[in-house]
Amino acid sequence: MPVHLYGLPANLPALTEIAEKAGLALVEDAAQAHAAAIGDRPVGAWGKGGCFSFYPTKNMHSLEGGMVSTDDAELARTLRLLRNQGMEQRYANEIVGANVRLTDVAAAVGRNQLSRLGEWTERRIANAARLTAGLKGVITPVVPEGYRHVYHQYTIRVPEHRDALQAALTERGIGSATYYPTPIHRLRPFLAADGSPDPRWELPETERAAAEALSLPVFPTLTDAELDRIIDAVNASIEAL
Ligand SMILES: Cc1ncc(COP(=O)(O)O)c(C=O)c1O
Repeated sequence: MPVHLYGLPANLPALTEIAEKAGLALVEDAAQAHAAAIGDRPVGAWGKGGCFSFYPTKNMHSLEGGMVSTDDAELARTLRLLRNQGMEQRYANEIVGANVRLTDVAAAVGRNQLSRLGEWTERRIANAARLTAGLKGVITPVVPEGYRHVYHQYTIRVPEHRDALQAALTERGIGSATYYPTPIHRLRPFLAADGSPDPRWELPETERAAAEALSLPVFPTLTDAELDRIIDAVNASIEAL
């Protein structure tokens, strides 16, 4: 289940090969990656299924809800049944399902958002390029050749000084966020019974990423002047640390 984190596609060619060799189904978590792609193949079109979120913070939304993409007709039918209490024909339930239907109102919002997704995505990509060109003293996002990063988040890495930089940015009136402050294996369900870290999970790279990542504003309606203000604030704060 690769996650296209922050809008950057995971290494799908490599993962597809691994999944095929192992006889595993690849299910893409494309919740943050609407319109991302590798080459001319969009995310959601690589695995057995692709899962998109339409939660309001996402690159497009339908108030709540989401979508599964698949080219497997049988899987698509099963998903439709699961969505509608196991029914295709009314009161002829074939399997045990739930009510997870998208409402018409949500779909109407989603269709409108979809019509603007292309333009918004281009703005996100252009905003990210301006940030990357201007930022100094931090590690900016690395995009492999041929990958289309759609910048759900513009996330930098700040070894050692992340929290200090975030505090300095707050002081200068620049919003920023840490996704995700606690790595999953340090959350309560994955701790040992006595609340201590479970010795089975030693994930130093994950912990380093959680301590260093900082997301800066990249949303489509940012102006060039606002982007330059963010760049100046980060560069000045880093220099002062
Ligand atoms: C990577 C990722 N996967 C899954 C989800 C869950 O999506 P939803 O909130 O639509 O259930 C989200 C967002 O909330 C997400 O960012």
